[in-house]
Amino acid sequence: MDTDPHRRPVDTSVKGSVVVRVEPIGVDVVVPEKTSLMRAAEAMGLKWPTVCGGDAECGTCFVSIDEAVAPCLPPVAPKEEQGLQLVPRWKRQQAGVVVRLACQLRPTSNLIVEKRGVRWRQEGGIDSPAISK
Ligand code: FES
Repeated sequence: MDTDPHRRPVDTSVKGSVVVRVEPIGVDVVVPEKTSLMRAAEAMGLKWPTVCGGDAECGTCFVSIDEAVAPCLPPVAPKEEQGLQLVPRWKRQQAGVVVRLACQLRPTSNLIVEKRGVRWRQEGGIDSPAISK
């Protein structure tokens, strides 16, 4: 039995939702249809690394995804393409992975992403919930 108090049951009953496993924290984020991965994660109580707050203007939120699943990802919109230029080049050119912005990526199928720095927001601490846009 899982005794981690931060693990919550994954509700995949919402029509059109998909599940994104975020590693290395090992959390399954349920992403409703037409919702960005970052917003869905924040709604679950996770703090996602960001500077711009989700406007594709900092590149901080980027995730790495196995390039084998790249055909299952929605296309990169011009706004995301612009933001991706802010991700360090070495990361964008890393072999075997594609890099996407979690604030812009609206996944349409279950997948696994890698994002270091994702953590649970502390209740009542300085990491109070961000204002949703
Ligand atoms: S949060 Fe700044 S680019 Fe995604």
